Amino acid sequence: MNLPDYNEARTRDKRKYNRLTFKLDKNIEKKYVGKTYFLKTYGCQMNEHDSENISALLEALGFSRVDDYNDADLVLLNTCSIRENAHNKAFGMLGRLKHLKSEKKDLLIGLCGCMAQEASVVEEILKDYKFVNFVFGTHNLYQLPEILDEAVKSSKQQIEVFSREGDLVEGLPVIRSNDFKAYVNIIYGCDKFCTYCIVPYTRGRERSRKKEDILEEIKELVRDGYKEVTLLGQNVNAYGKDLYDNYNMGDLLEEIALMNIPRIRFMTSHPWDFTDKMIEVIGKYPNIMPSVHLPVQSGSNRILKLMGRRYTKESYLELFHKIKDTIPGVAISTDIIVGFPGENEEDFQETMSLVQECKYDNAFTFVFSQREGTPACKLKDNTTQEEKEERLQRLNEVVNTYFLENNKKLVGTTVKVLVEGTNEKKDMYFGYSETNKLINFTSDKTIYCGDIVDVEITDAKTWSLDGRVQ
Ligand code: SAH
Ligand code: SF4
Ligand code: F3S
Repeated sequence: MNLPDYNEARTRDKRKYNRLTFKLDKNIEKKYVGKTYFLKTYGCQMNEHDSENISALLEALGFSRVDDYNDADLVLLNTCSIRENAHNKAFGMLGRLKHLKSEKKDLLIGLCGCMAQEASVVEEILKDYKFVNFVFGTHNLYQLPEILDEAVKSSKQQIEVFSREGDLVEGLPVIRSNDFKAYVNIIYGCDKFCTYCIVPYTRGRERSRKKEDILEEIKELVRDGYKEVTLLGQNVNAYGKDLYDNYNMGDLLEEIALMNIPRIRFMTSHPWDFTDKMIEVIGKYPNIMPSVHLPVQSGSNRILKLMGRRYTKESYLELFHKIKDTIPGVAISTDIIVGFPGENEEDFQETMSLVQECKYDNAFTFVFSQREGTPACKLKDNTTQEEKEERLQRLNEVVNTYFLENNKKLVGTTVKVLVEGTNEKKDMYFGYSETNKLINFTSDKTIYCGDIVDVEITDAKTWSLDGRVQ
């Protein structure tokens, strides 16, 4: 048994870790043929991509996927810790699974992902969720085959979670959930320690993949007909800093842009470390999509300081405008937290004035959620939950008007869309524009998923646009 420990998770000494190539133990390969699995994923794109590896590992063991957990021999929850409601959803699901297990004694239940890295969650599972057969964390996903097999053989609860970064493993199998768009990890972990955030504890220290491994993966994707790659990291701008003296995110982006891939996206970029070179490269290469996610979190300098965000409203705006001015047609989206401990109406108005200036193309807005073990948890807070919810509502009303306003400007223009599929009635296609807007459209010509087509925009809505293929 290995249990997670936050005090260890917090440490950032440059302990050595190995770079290994994954190898599946031949003794368990295809051992579970005939068995089925249900995999539920919560949280961000990084978790979604981890689930693509998890599916492939399970299928290498012989499991086949089902879409209803009632039909599964194995149910695995890949969890997220970012806010309390993500937690509650996973525990709610565990409650339903407890019921199912009482009828189906052989059902295997596993939990992994960010919640598995939390000591209090693991304690709760040990105490109150004894029916969970195995738990593993974000640092040892590659050990899933052995942990699962041990849980079956020993019929004892297996808890195998490392508190800190383990080895960086290349060559994990992957079953991608989309035939044309692919996620590619470039950096793991986060060293920023924003005071509200749990990610640095659940994902560990920043570790970049070697550029050769990234480029090789993308080369293979191009060969397989993928049209779009999204480079993933909690903070992609930190790419390379832990690994190279003179090679960073701007260099990586440029090298990828020179490969034959039609669309490149990346997320998430913290305003810190967003270099001029990055902006220049994004503006220069037409296959780097003009779409930047630039989380601001708050417009109040006092709150930004308490959040540990390392920038001021003014320096954020300077960067924002530099990006807008340098990258033609760029769309900028953001994340905002309202109700951070101590945020008063004046601070909130600073956020409102910032969104009025930035007129974001998209924004993900949240009410602050206390995460156990983070510094913000200890801050004094006099604002009621009700008031925070009310601030969120006021903020959403304003940001929504800008989504619509920006979309309306596109009516009558032609945008490039990567065709992803059709709606249920099959009378309309859908896909995303270069600026990452959802486009629903018709076509008189025959078109296929994976095509990139020119769509004339005919109508604008808050969260999507309508159009027709030219
Ligand atoms: N690495 C990214 C953010 C990843 S988490 C970045 O820094 O840009 C995604 C978003 O969740 C954050 O941008 C933040 O807005 C929100 N978030 C994180 N912790 C939160 C908390 N404790 N309460 C509410 N929202 C939170
Ligand atoms: Fe969390 Fe901040 Fe790291 Fe983003 S940069 S993952 S908000 S600690
Ligand atoms: Fe959630 Fe972990 Fe992603 S906490 S947002 S799944 S990194």
